[in-house]
Amino acid sequence: MIRSALMNVMTAAAIKAGRGLKRDFGEVENLQVSVKGPGDFVSAADKKSEQTLFEELLKARPGYGFVMEEGGTVEGADKSHTWHIDPLDGTTNFLHGLPLFAISIGLEREGVIVAGVIYNPATDDMFFAERGQGAYLNNHRLRVAARRDLGDALVSCGIPPLGSAAIHPRFKTEFAATLARAGNLRRLGAAALDLAYVAAGRFDAYWERGVKSWDVAAGIVLVREAGGFVSDADGGDKALTGRSICAGNEHMHRHLLAVLRDAG
Ligand code: IPD
Ligand code: CA
Repeated sequence: MIRSALMNVMTAAAIKAGRGLKRDFGEVENLQVSVKGPGDFVSAADKKSEQTLFEELLKARPGYGFVMEEGGTVEGADKSHTWHIDPLDGTTNFLHGLPLFAISIGLEREGVIVAGVIYNPATDDMFFAERGQGAYLNNHRLRVAARRDLGDALVSCGIPPLGSAAIHPRFKTEFAATLARAGNLRRLGAAALDLAYVAAGRFDAYWERGVKSWDVAAGIVLVREAGGFVSDADGGDKALTGRSICAGNEHMHRHLLAVLRDAG
């Protein structure tokens, strides 16, 4: 398959930043045994990755704006294009030496995500999609899973950490309701990969509350281009900005939304 100029820009930026993350990930293992732990080292790795992505994308598309996990919002001269960037999604996994993390780059045009790249440097999995052009993992076209019955589904979720205690009660009721209906559940620890795995048919569905635009931007276009459905976790159209997400094939998305609604 031939990648567009835009895809080349996005994947090249992800590969460049990913090279640094992969090197740093190798160091993290050594730091587990130090009393101080790898915390500061990981936060430096995160910032370095973001700086590389920022420089590369700015060079290639000078007018576009940025919404970044670390650096916040940077306005561009071109008000219709914004990058949503997570330089290290799955920070906790990275910190603990688990190879489930990714760089996530989504491009928003006039409120719609038109292109996304999710790259895991530890496995060299490059997920990418452009609106109207399909979704891919490396050179393979992606399709969401075909299962229809929630009882057969592997459903992924996000578990709010200690610092997000305000959303723990709702998570508990939603988790209990899903546990009672779905085949089984998983918690991966990287929202971008959760969505990429739905696009790849590995997960049948995924939901999470408390996500930000940089966690989900790229994944939204990936799932849709793989034939799946994405909304916020209340079934609305605020998947990008509404701080919650629900994704799956047409059937699983509908079933999971119904379970979440009944749980609420
Ligand atoms: C987090 C991960 C995690 C999800 C959180 C995100 P970070 O991003 O994607 O899986 O549950 O909502 O904030 O902090 O690792 O970039
Ligand atoms: Ca993230």
